Amino acid sequence: MALYKLEEADLVSEGYLKQISLGEKSVVLACGASGPRAVEPYCPHAGGSMAAGKVIGDRLRCPMHGYMFDLRTGYCPRASREGFQPLRTAEVKNLDGCLYLEVRDGADIFEAIHPAALK
Ligand code: FES
Repeated sequence: MALYKLEEADLVSEGYLKQISLGEKSVVLACGASGPRAVEPYCPHAGGSMAAGKVIGDRLRCPMHGYMFDLRTGYCPRASREGFQPLRTAEVKNLDGCLYLEVRDGADIFEAIHPAALK
């Protein structure tokens, strides 16, 4: 199990949005109304930069075409209709005031996603 430090927790509040490098990969740390989540950096629709989007409540709006993704599940109402995957999103842990992404050994960063999110 690997823990990747993302940010000091007291620097993150609703609306926070930042791309964070984790070695060769990166994630976007986004904080919605329900708290912070890590999401993949590029939109599954056509590759928009999610770090350049906007957090609205518990959703993240892609800057390229404006599609909205639920930060908690990755769900986008247009994904199944248009045949693309939801935004991959993962839980963020607060340990002693720092936010971390936990990844199983040998796993892709977003294999930690709950399967229920892929609806
Ligand atoms: S690239 Fe994100 S909505 Fe199209």
